[in-house]
Amino acid sequence: MNKYSTPFKSIQWNESHITIIDQTFLPEREVYVDLRTSGQVWDAIKKLKVRGAPAIGIAGAYGFYLGIKDLPENTFNTFYSECERVADYLNSSRPTAVNLSWALNRILKTIYSKKKSDISDLKELALSTAKTIHDEDRRLCKSIGEHGMKLIPDNARILTHCNTGGLATAEFGTAFSIILHAHIAGKVKQVWVDETRPLLQGARLTAWELQKAEIPFKLNIDSAAASLMNQGLVDLVVLGADRIARNGDTANKIGTSGLAILANHFGIPFYVAAPYSTIDMNTKSGEEIEIEERDAEEVTSFGSKLMAPKKTEAYNPAFDVTKNDLITAIITEKGVLKPDYTESIKKALDS
Ligand code: MRU
Repeated sequence: MNKYSTPFKSIQWNESHITIIDQTFLPEREVYVDLRTSGQVWDAIKKLKVRGAPAIGIAGAYGFYLGIKDLPENTFNTFYSECERVADYLNSSRPTAVNLSWALNRILKTIYSKKKSDISDLKELALSTAKTIHDEDRRLCKSIGEHGMKLIPDNARILTHCNTGGLATAEFGTAFSIILHAHIAGKVKQVWVDETRPLLQGARLTAWELQKAEIPFKLNIDSAAASLMNQGLVDLVVLGADRIARNGDTANKIGTSGLAILANHFGIPFYVAAPYSTIDMNTKSGEEIEIEERDAEEVTSFGSKLMAPKKTEAYNPAFDVTKNDLITAIITEKGVLKPDYTESIKKALDS
């Protein structure tokens, strides 16, 4: 695994701007776009050009710097209240993945802790913190893969949902990193890739990443999961998270909780993989997690083609919450956490 590196860069810092792979063009084209302002970063997150919980945290962190770098250098209080405004603005782009507010709060706290410094130094501090968040995510993801692969049996047939790979993180991914590590260790027979309606992150993005990594997979429609499990074709489910409450309840891409219920019914292990930046100790349980609702057109149309009669109303929550009692283990960079999650999460974060 030491030699493996993800064969594309989800986000890069280039002196004065970030360059992201625009995920809305995948898998047809690998298009890289430059983002030079916090407004462009906000828009890219909102439109899912950059997506996946850790990746939007990283993009948000750089976006913060882009939003404050030209602020006038007067008093700390004026500067800091502008910083808070920029952070609030970026945080309004998507509500569910906590990694965004986590990254922004981390930078705000770092700036505040050095309030006696020159404003120009504080700006540089914001940038260096963004870079640290970026580098750290790469290491966390690698470590999640190393811990998680130990849970994967030989000849594993693994079902996954949405996209949790290098596109969704700095590198390697979360659940994807586990699959990748297990594959390199020769343990993966096949990955089942849920297409992940309505925006097809599984079909467009996970299939693209698996193909690049030469990991055997088959794409299935989301509603085939029960049938696959019933036929004994799935050994385990592993997927990511957008926010994990302190009791282990987990918000992830819509469809996740249904998979957890199915896995439980069929006695199949159901694993969630995420770095500590996805765990929200300020959220007691899943009921408190805000679920993003997206435009109805994502459900009623396919690109420019109508898939339902004009004026059809649709309900389009982007995420759902899986109750902690349906989760076999939560795999983090610290190791494999087991129930009772209130205790194991606290212990892991305190260590
Ligand atoms: O709406 P998206 O594509 O940003 O949703 C992403 C997911 O739900 C992922 O599973 C989650 O962010 C984990 S990514 C490592």
